[in-house]
Amino acid sequence: MPSHEFTNLNDADVIGLIAYLKQIPKVARAMRANHVGPIGRLLYLKGDLPLLPAELMNHTAAHPAEITSAPTAEYGRYIANACAGCHGKTFSGGKIPGTPPEFRPPANITPTGIGRYTEADFSSPRCAKGNVQAAR
Ligand code: HEC
Repeated sequence: MPSHEFTNLNDADVIGLIAYLKQIPKVARAMRANHVGPIGRLLYLKGDLPLLPAELMNHTAAHPAEITSAPTAEYGRYIANACAGCHGKTFSGGKIPGTPPEFRPPANITPTGIGRYTEADFSSPRCAKGNVQAAR
């Protein structure tokens, strides 16, 4: 798990995440064993492929403060922390080094990549209780 990408969550969201995970049904299935191939090892040794998220964390950093869920740049920045691990620091997407061939490259989610979407695309009945509607 890319746990370093979740260290930016505030306490309330971590509590919410744990509560959600605890209420979904457990599954019992065999997981494929993790395997790092020669290219992955090389990238790791070069420092280009972080395999141990614990090494990327600041273990003494203060927990982030709670943030109001609102259509603000500040809240967007907070939420987007969870996207950068796959979509990249600039959100331009592309293959993640070391991922298996069947792992689809994350899309470009900058305005260039998703400019075809309209706000209405995010306003389906499923989103009706979400922030997109609340912001109107
Ligand atoms: C675990 C990796 C991962 C994370 C984390 C992730 N994405 Fe993605 N995302 C993908 C991949 C892979 C695709 C491409 C899927 C495909 O091509 O079928 C994708 C596709 C998308 C698309 C569709 C783009 C299009 O062209 O239609 C959007 C929008 C998107 N992601 C937004 C987000 C947002 C917003 C976040 C954070 C809240 C996020 N993603 C976090 C892996 C991720």
